[in-house]
Amino acid sequence: MRHKQSDYMHWSKTQSRARFNLATSGVAPFPFRELPVDLEKLEINGDNSYGYAPLQGAIAAHHGVDPESVMESAGTSMANHLAMAAILEPGDEALIERPAYGPILDVAQYLQANVKRFPRTEENGWAVDPEAIRHCVTPRTRLIVVTNLHNPTSVLTPDSVLREIGDIARSVGALVLVDEVYLDAVYEETPRTSFHIGPEFVVTSSLTKVYGVSGLRCGWILARPDLAWKMRRLNDLYSATPVYPGELLSVVAFKHLNLLRERACRIVEADRKLLRDFLKQQSVLSAVRTDCGTTSFVQLRDRNVDFFLERLRAKFDTSAVPGSFFGMPDHFRIGMGVNTEMFAEGLRRIGRALEECETTKL
Ligand SMILES: Cc1ncc(COP(=O)(O)O)c(C=O)c1O
Repeated sequence: MRHKQSDYMHWSKTQSRARFNLATSGVAPFPFRELPVDLEKLEINGDNSYGYAPLQGAIAAHHGVDPESVMESAGTSMANHLAMAAILEPGDEALIERPAYGPILDVAQYLQANVKRFPRTEENGWAVDPEAIRHCVTPRTRLIVVTNLHNPTSVLTPDSVLREIGDIARSVGALVLVDEVYLDAVYEETPRTSFHIGPEFVVTSSLTKVYGVSGLRCGWILARPDLAWKMRRLNDLYSATPVYPGELLSVVAFKHLNLLRERACRIVEADRKLLRDFLKQQSVLSAVRTDCGTTSFVQLRDRNVDFFLERLRAKFDTSAVPGSFFGMPDHFRIGMGVNTEMFAEGLRRIGRALEECETTKL
């Protein structure tokens, strides 16, 4: 049977909610009333057969690329799907980082790729090690996939390393897919998209995670124009046209991106400080320190993490993402950037749950 589902996505939609929800990865929703929208100009139908030109232009300008290289998609989820589906044939090798965001693996498996994994290790600060990729790559490799920032750890991969990955890919005629949905959560000296590094780079991103407008589903792919066209033609099989009002609102969001970003940045930074102070006090918890991003991947020693998180949710109304969804069952992921009061109380409750585990030896 072909793989046709995402266990992580299902868990996230049905099991992750709690009053103190630290199972998030995106920032707080940006309220519609604070977006300077001229409702008179909103329309339901418009000229958007292969995307709405002003939105394509806004995405292109945001990244400093040619609009021909921009392909609109429904979020980064659909962007990843289209990019992989356009590149991979059944049996092709796809090299995917470990730990990885589950749905990326699920899509590759659904497409019947031969999925191979290369490790990012905690001892190495979760960095991408080009040697590990070189070790896995073969003449059958068609695609190398990384997230930057990395989900779940938020570690940033520098251009020098991405360039090395590009060289490895080129040596076997493969492409590199970089999911940059969290990259703009580097609030200072935000790196340019890796699309500029070379023609073997394909990039996916969206306004969903870092800008708080997930409901607009404004996502995109950056690819060589010929590949971008392949993806547009493939997308014809999935959806005739994008949602026009969503495109109009996305153009407005792009016009006010700084407004969206600054608000989120304040919350993310306040939460990061709280998390650092909290981790310092906890002897059984540790995490690689990062200065950017909306998630932290925390190791819990000498405890059953799944059991701990179940109790945390049931008794303390607090949730976090089990590391088992990333293939690391002794970790869990904490999300920042939604609401600092809620975050602080969530951490306090994790602390209380840990104390309770200690006294009851659970
Ligand atoms: C690495 C990564 N890519 C893609 C997505 C999906 O993004 P979107 O909401 O834009 O579809 C997520 C969501 O958590 C993610 O973490």
